[in-house]
Amino acid sequence: SARIGLMAALPEEMAAVLAAMPDEARVTLAGRDFWVGHLHGREVVAVLSGIGKVAAATTTALLASHFGVGQVVFVGVAGGLGDGVRVGDVVLADALMQHDMDASPLFPRFELPGKGLSRLPADPGAVARARVALSAALTPASLADTAPQGLQAADLAALGLDWPQVHQGLIVSGDRFVCTDGECAALRAAVPDALAVEMEGAAVAQVCHDFGVPCLVVRTVSDRADDAAHVDFPRFLRAVASPYASAMLSHLLPV
Ligand code: ADE
Repeated sequence: SARIGLMAALPEEMAAVLAAMPDEARVTLAGRDFWVGHLHGREVVAVLSGIGKVAAATTTALLASHFGVGQVVFVGVAGGLGDGVRVGDVVLADALMQHDMDASPLFPRFELPGKGLSRLPADPGAVARARVALSAALTPASLADTAPQGLQAADLAALGLDWPQVHQGLIVSGDRFVCTDGECAALRAAVPDALAVEMEGAAVAQVCHDFGVPCLVVRTVSDRADDAAHVDFPRFLRAVASPYASAMLSHLLPV
């Protein structure tokens, strides 16, 4: 069973994971801390990429080439775009696309020049296994059991959140925090089947594609990428990003 690279953009998204690694040893490369150790019995390298596509691409390339990981799992938050994708839900990417890639008229909008495609598929087997694992992870019992203090149904209710649903589909990434109704509407019109928007996933997918390493991107919805996003994002990031990530990984890693 190959080493797994675990990535998140922000410390809030990875805190509970790092706290649960019993034997982590830090390796610093390119200004990043890579934590090499074990989690739930698997050999892992956990790292914070920082925000944005370049930061994510550099980090992914190091995980693949320097640390030799056989799979990359990215966890974090995203803005919900699809109908019915609510704050507090989880989105599992089965494909990823850079919504700010546009070399038209040389290439069709969104197409990755030289690759002849715009959407990079996630590994179908990994997605299917993740789907099952996530259903098990996002139960009241599982979330209540999450380090450091557990997330109770009452905590979610106090945040105005319903129990999480898992959505599977397209995640789009770009170097913009989408936080106006207008920009959100434009993005929904341009990519009608996008379920969520964030700032790293499609870059991770592109580098993984180049290295032949399967990748999995799982996002918790922190906001709806609208006029309220600047308030919802920090609130939700603090409250649930880390417990969700650690609950999800405790079920994702063993499979
Ligand atoms: N990550 C979480 N929310 C986001 C948003 N609204 N835009 C881009 N990335 C995000």
